[in-house]
Amino acid sequence: MSIQIIWRGHGTFSLDFAGTAVVVDPFFAGNNPTAKIGVENVAADFILQTHGHGDHIADTVPLATQTNATVICVPEIGGWLGNQGVENIHGMNTGGGCNFPFGRVKMTPALHSSGLPDGSYGGDPIGFVVTSESKHIYIAGDTALFSDMALIGKVGLDVAILPIGDNYTMGPGDAIEAIKLLKPKVVIPCHYSTWPIIEVDVHAWAKLVELHTDAKPMILGVDEAFTL
Ligand code: NI
Ligand code: MN
Repeated sequence: MSIQIIWRGHGTFSLDFAGTAVVVDPFFAGNNPTAKIGVENVAADFILQTHGHGDHIADTVPLATQTNATVICVPEIGGWLGNQGVENIHGMNTGGGCNFPFGRVKMTPALHSSGLPDGSYGGDPIGFVVTSESKHIYIAGDTALFSDMALIGKVGLDVAILPIGDNYTMGPGDAIEAIKLLKPKVVIPCHYSTWPIIEVDVHAWAKLVELHTDAKPMILGVDEAFTL
């Protein structure tokens, strides 16, 4: 059995857990300027929604509608999606965990905001720790650096998926500090170079990760997979 992590560009990932397709923050071609695949070609059994901003939720309704996938999100976003016809919603909240067929999902705090595209209240932004086949994957979502990342890392992370783009989230320097707290084996950067305002020299950043932390930086191209 293996776990596959495919970057779709920006904060969007397709994860495969032994045949179960889990999509993080649906934002595909047509909306996402760096994505290559359109939502119509995406498979999903579950959707993990970190928060309500358009660059994370633009394609959640179409993806959930076409696939019947269950959206795992905070209740405020669940209500908003339900009003748009999404039928399968599993509400959770910060600090809570629940077992799903593909693994255990725990919601972690994130330091960000979470208004929905139409101005509706989206509750708190969150991140996820997904545990499957004894592997722990942290998906930070959009967040600033915060010291409680040390607590999230206590579980022993195999992979941390972190935003590094600055301006809207932590930048490259704070992401290095986050890695020191989280202590993952592998770090996958995201939420960078989608637009000029979050342009990052990711290869220079990866060198700093190797120099200052024990984590292995894994830079993925769009639609490239990391197998765990
Ligand atoms: Ni955001
Ligand atoms: Mn974002």
